[in-house]
This record gives sequence, structure tokens and C-alpha cells, in this order.
Amino acid sequence: MARRVGLVAVVSITHLFPFVACEAFHEIHVGASGSFYDPATVLANQNDVVTFIFDGPFHDVTQSTFARPCQPLAGGFSSGTAGKGTNGSAPSPSWSLRITNASVPIWFYCGATIPLPHCTTGMVGYVLKLTQVPAHPSIDAIHGS
Ligand SMILES: *[C@@H]1O[C@H](CO)[C@@H](O)[C@H](O)[C@H]1NC(C)=O
Ligand SMILES: *[C@@H]1O[C@H](CO)[C@@H](O)[C@H](O)[C@H]1NC(C)=O
Repeated sequence: MARRVGLVAVVSITHLFPFVACEAFHEIHVGASGSFYDPATVLANQNDVVTFIFDGPFHDVTQSTFARPCQPLAGGFSSGTAGKGTNGSAPSPSWSLRITNASVPIWFYCGATIPLPHCTTGMVGYVLKLTQVPAHPSIDAIHGS
């Protein structure tokens, strides 16, 4: 009897696993209160969706690299410039990114340059695999670059 209960427990865990591993949705607010991504870090799994909500003035989300955080990655993504401008009652545009390979860290920055380059003033962010965090002791270094 005890053996049978054990088997049932194993089967249940196997059935639950797809739900635990299923896609999650993450939201990043873009420039809502200053030229920042909030949050700037998302820990994602395969197939998760990261939605950028442009609820501030005009910004963008452009893929870069850890080595050159303010330079576009050749062939990388870009959301295009979006925002509410100065109209607080206008709807917030949004743009979504699906994480197709969570093993590859994603770095991004804002390419807007008015009145100062947003990237060099700290408008950078990254998507890392949930389990990569301990392996990336230097991720905070980008904030100073
Ligand atoms: C602000 O946005 C709202 C909602 O889209 C719109 O009805 C209104 O005309 C806009 N105001 C200005 C000054 O553009
Ligand atoms: C994800 O990227 C890594 C590193 O480039 C690669 O080794 C792996 O095959 C990729 N996995 C998928 C599912 O594309």
C-alpha cells in the first residue's frame, strides 16, 4: 500500500511539471519615472514573454551586448521609439519579446539621446536565465558603464 502511494506521488509530480515550467509573463516599465527600465533585470525561463510598457516619454528597447552595452548588436532586436509623450491620459504602447533561448543572456538599452544619451545615464537592462544569476557576479557592473 505504501508503495502504491509512492508511485502515485511520482506520477503527480510528473504531471505538475509542465505547469511549473510553463511560460511566465514579465512586465518592464519604460521610462515611467525617469530614464530607467523598471525593473532593469528580469529572470526568465524558456518561452517566457517580456512585455515592455512605454508609459513614459519617448524611449526604445535595443539589443546590445554585455561588452558594449550602449552599442546595438548587429542583427539584434529593436522595439522602435515609443511612449506616451507628455499626454498622461494617452494609452501606453507596449512591445513584447519572447525568450526563445533562455541560455543566452539578453542585454538591452535605450537608444534615445535627448537631452543626454539615455544609455550612458543608466537606461540599460538585461534578461537572464533564472538559474544564471549566481554565475554572473558582474551583472551590476553595467550600471556603472
Ligand atoms: C491625450 O490622450 C487622450 C487619450 O488618447 C486623447 O483623447 C487626448 O486628445 C490627448 N490629448 C492631447 C492634448 O493630445
Ligand atoms: C541556446 O543557445 C546555446 C548557446 O548559444 C546553444 O548551445 C543552444 O543549443 C541553444 N538552445 C536552443 C534551444 O536553441
